[in-house]
Amino acid sequence: MTDSSSIRFPDGFLWGAATSAYQVEGSPLADGAGPSNWHHFSHQPDAIADGGTGDVACDHYRRYEEDVALMRQLGLQAYRFSVSWSRILPEGRGRINPAGLDFYRRLLDRLLEAGIQPCATLFHWDLPQALQEQGGWANRDSANWFADYAHILFRELGDKVPLWATLNEPWVVVNDGYMHGVHAPGHRSLDEAPWVAHNLLRAHALGVQAFRADGQGQIGLVVNLEPKYAASVGPDDAAAMSRAHAYMNRWFLDGVMLGSYPDELAEMFGQHWPRFDLADMALLLEPFDFLGINYYTRSVNRDAPQNPPPHAESVRQEGAEYTEMGWEVFPEGLTRTLQWVKQRYGDPPIYITENGAAFADPPAHNGRVADPRRVEYLRGHLRAAHEAIRLGVNLKGYFAWSLLDNFEWSLGYAKTFGLVQVDFSSQRRTIKDSGYFYRDVIARNGL
Ligand code: NOJ
Repeated sequence: MTDSSSIRFPDGFLWGAATSAYQVEGSPLADGAGPSNWHHFSHQPDAIADGGTGDVACDHYRRYEEDVALMRQLGLQAYRFSVSWSRILPEGRGRINPAGLDFYRRLLDRLLEAGIQPCATLFHWDLPQALQEQGGWANRDSANWFADYAHILFRELGDKVPLWATLNEPWVVVNDGYMHGVHAPGHRSLDEAPWVAHNLLRAHALGVQAFRADGQGQIGLVVNLEPKYAASVGPDDAAAMSRAHAYMNRWFLDGVMLGSYPDELAEMFGQHWPRFDLADMALLLEPFDFLGINYYTRSVNRDAPQNPPPHAESVRQEGAEYTEMGWEVFPEGLTRTLQWVKQRYGDPPIYITENGAAFADPPAHNGRVADPRRVEYLRGHLRAAHEAIRLGVNLKGYFAWSLLDNFEWSLGYAKTFGLVQVDFSSQRRTIKDSGYFYRDVIARNGL
């Protein structure tokens, strides 16, 4: 491991932080926006741990100028956010809502004035509810709905956005939304899940085609990856590890990089696994410009035949450090993951589009929030990222998750990932020690 004093990132390495629309904006129905499936879902009784919703969240929809000022204070060079589809198209397709576009234009103008590069994600999980009611991603037409929406964004906002991502973490939509029912739309269906995954990737490919027609800059896909380890040396746990790896890490990347799905998926899903059209599989190979990787943890797996695919469960590691999410702190897994992507998928340009940790932070005291564990988490993962670069991975930038404490989906507001604390009763923002640490990293381009 390189001595920390000597860690410098390559010139031009891009430093940013990330959020997503439903998690920070609030005002979900303002100015003509339609409801999203997350608006609908979070209002169902018992859907969210603390009864939270995105109704107010960080009130970023109204406080975006203050938030851009915070980004400046941190010295961010880039900001990754997502566009709320149902602000732009309240019914998901057809009629455009100009006020929705206007919000993102104002945000983009402030970012550009501040010298901060925007990175916009088209879909970070909030689907217009009107489309959900037509079957959502399980409907084959969803890929075309997405492409139409993408055309609008590229046409209307394209001159202000150099970096785009089609989808954020499609695996989570499938796993949490359609296998375990804990995310919108709350389904558990072995029949729907494979189609949802497939249609999401078709949407990605059609979105990239739309970008080639009227976009400018670069476009990528954001996936979440987690290296898998076996809980024992026995063959059953080794097989569980391979299944978990195929299910979480290879499903989407094999799809878009190799034009095929892992054989293990057909085995795991059995009769529920469809036969996919060869023309679809060819479509998925549409080339794009970069891979966005969200990395948080690893998992150690053992065989669990009674569980739904991948018929595995993860085992807690004695003596290891865990975040409030119950995720093991495992920075070397980031180096390993980046190397694996390089080797398996032909050395694509990569951005780490999310990395960070939920820890229970103390309230601000005299304008300070001491979060030493998050500082250490970031330090460890930045070293691991640097190590991957040293080993030849084409890593272009890093985005911390998250700029702000925010709505952590089904877990509500208790899990805080921010570099900036948000007091949700007053909406007061306070930069945490980790925020200042990150500011210094950016200023030095290293550790
Ligand atoms: C990944 C997701 O993209 C983001 O929305 C979420 O808040 C973080 N992981 C933390 O769970």
